[in-house]
Amino acid sequence: MKGAIFTLILVLACISSSYAFWSTGHMIISRIAYEQLKEKNETLYNLIEEDIKLLQEFSVEVNHSFVEAAIWADDNKEIAFNQFTEWHYANTPVILPDFEGEILSQPQNVTWGINEMVKTLSYTKTPKFNNSLALSFSWRYLLHLIGDIHQPLHASTMFSAQFPDGDMGGNLFMIDYEAEDMNNLHSLWDASVDQYGSIWAPLSDDEWTSIGEFADSIMKMYPRESVQARVDITDPRVWAKESFNLAKEVVYSDLKSGDKITPEYLKIGRKAVNEQLAVGGYRLADALLNLAQKRYSESIIKQKLQSS
Ligand SMILES: *[C@@H]1O[C@H](CO)[C@@H](O)[C@H](O)[C@H]1NC(C)=O
Ligand SMILES: *[C@@H]1O[C@H](CO)[C@@H](O)[C@H](O)[C@H]1NC(C)=O
Ligand SMILES: *[C@@H]1O[C@H](CO)[C@@H](O)[C@H](O)[C@H]1NC(C)=O
Ligand SMILES: *[C@@H]1O[C@H](CO)[C@@H](O)[C@H](O)[C@H]1NC(C)=O
Repeated sequence: MKGAIFTLILVLACISSSYAFWSTGHMIISRIAYEQLKEKNETLYNLIEEDIKLLQEFSVEVNHSFVEAAIWADDNKEIAFNQFTEWHYANTPVILPDFEGEILSQPQNVTWGINEMVKTLSYTKTPKFNNSLALSFSWRYLLHLIGDIHQPLHASTMFSAQFPDGDMGGNLFMIDYEAEDMNNLHSLWDASVDQYGSIWAPLSDDEWTSIGEFADSIMKMYPRESVQARVDITDPRVWAKESFNLAKEVVYSDLKSGDKITPEYLKIGRKAVNEQLAVGGYRLADALLNLAQKRYSESIIKQKLQSS
């Protein structure tokens, strides 16, 4: 019993530390999308932002709602608004040879979540009642979930003799690493393999600048053209599969629970994360632009332009 309670406390501690660690990563992805959308079609960007802002008063956002809204889905968990928690990941199993047992499937997952948000945002018939809540919510979760699906440990879970019920996407997989708040594999990867620090919303002016600089340097490392073949893939199921493969080959690789994280591991991991952030940002920009083009008719655009 004591053991069970201890395990429970440990699990809760791990989960809570993983809740919003990735906030910097999420905001880097949404900042990349922000830069790209503004450049490609500022009118459509403004319409999306206007929808997003409808729920601003139910968030911590102040000056940069679009970018900050990428972490709203995590902030909601901190007020026990947890009904959507399963949307943040897919427990596709990485199975070690010593595992025996059964793996339960998860009816709702990150792929499902993205597809549902896309369905809501693609619905363009005249609504029976004001649909602003549905739109704002869906843009916000889309910003977040397209980030999550690019984090390999949000697309995989290890099953082994040590983790008969799975390692919760690396949350239970302890590592020997110098940063105390990155003592499990999930937190290390949520923190972009210990890059970019931990920045929270609301963004101060300096933090806004930092996020911009991170986004910029990542776009320089991986310009759109250099990853175009990946960016062209629009099916979230393939995004999840790519992340899963990355988890198997790079994240778990031949690492054992309790192992020391080596400089070589960090180097390979950071490279992989940076490419994921770039690709995630470009894909997010394209998905939003595509949805907005279908959503906002010429007449709505004209109306909005006149009223602003
Ligand atoms: C996610 O859930 C859907 C619907 O239940 C399922 O078809 C799909 O295989 C799952 N995807 C992953 C990556 O687990
Ligand atoms: C829907 O509700 C929002 C929030 O009150 C409001 O800003 C918007 O103008 C409404 N839209 C319509 C079409 O009435
Ligand atoms: C928002 O912008 C104003 C004006 O630049 C600034 O004074 C304020 O500190 C900003 N808010 C936050 C949370 O940084
Ligand atoms: C932005 O998108 C709208 C709707 O598709 C289109 O009418 C407009 O010409 C586009 N603007 C630019 C600058 O491409």
